[in-house]
Amino acid sequence: MKDKKQVLLEQIKADIIEDNVCPDLAQQATNLVMGDGNVNAEIVFIGEAPGKKEDVSGLPFMGAAGKFLDEMLVGSSIKRSDVYITNIVKYRPPENRDPSIKEKEAFWPYLVRQLDVIQPIAVVTLGRHSMEYFLPNQKIGEIHGQPSQIRLGDNNIIIMPLYHPAAALYNRSLKATLVEDFNKLPKIIDFYKNEKENI
Ligand code: URA
Repeated sequence: MKDKKQVLLEQIKADIIEDNVCPDLAQQATNLVMGDGNVNAEIVFIGEAPGKKEDVSGLPFMGAAGKFLDEMLVGSSIKRSDVYITNIVKYRPPENRDPSIKEKEAFWPYLVRQLDVIQPIAVVTLGRHSMEYFLPNQKIGEIHGQPSQIRLGDNNIIIMPLYHPAAALYNRSLKATLVEDFNKLPKIIDFYKNEKENI
């Protein structure tokens, strides 16, 4: 039998199609890339938008950035099968251009619904495109690796802003910073999990 959360997530996907979100992107995309992973995850990773490999496979973070994300998960002893991974924009922008503000705004309510279903302890934003919706008017260079608590709908949620793995791939010092920030995740989860249990 299907998990109730799985059913609710499938409904969000159906609604994106039904609501005709970003028809221009939809028209040239192979797949609507909703997300992948554990629907009961304590951590949800949110990237920018699908690239070519993600568009073809229908799964997020399958290319070089995904390989690096996998390496960091292994390095932090977090299983990919324990987390949920998605993007703010669910269709591939042509030529992998940055998603526009309009596109991000169009998909934001569906992302909020996804999080409301999964109810993670922490959201890890990968890059500024997803960060700016959770932590408006902040600069990633100033707040990366620093968790903060926000209210999203009826839930308190920890936002951990990280650099995007693709940006760090070819920049040694950014890569070292990202890995260092990433390695803080297990302790942060433990800390807030205990706090939640003690309320
Ligand atoms: N970059 C992203 O932000 N998301 C993906 O799914 C792949 C690459």
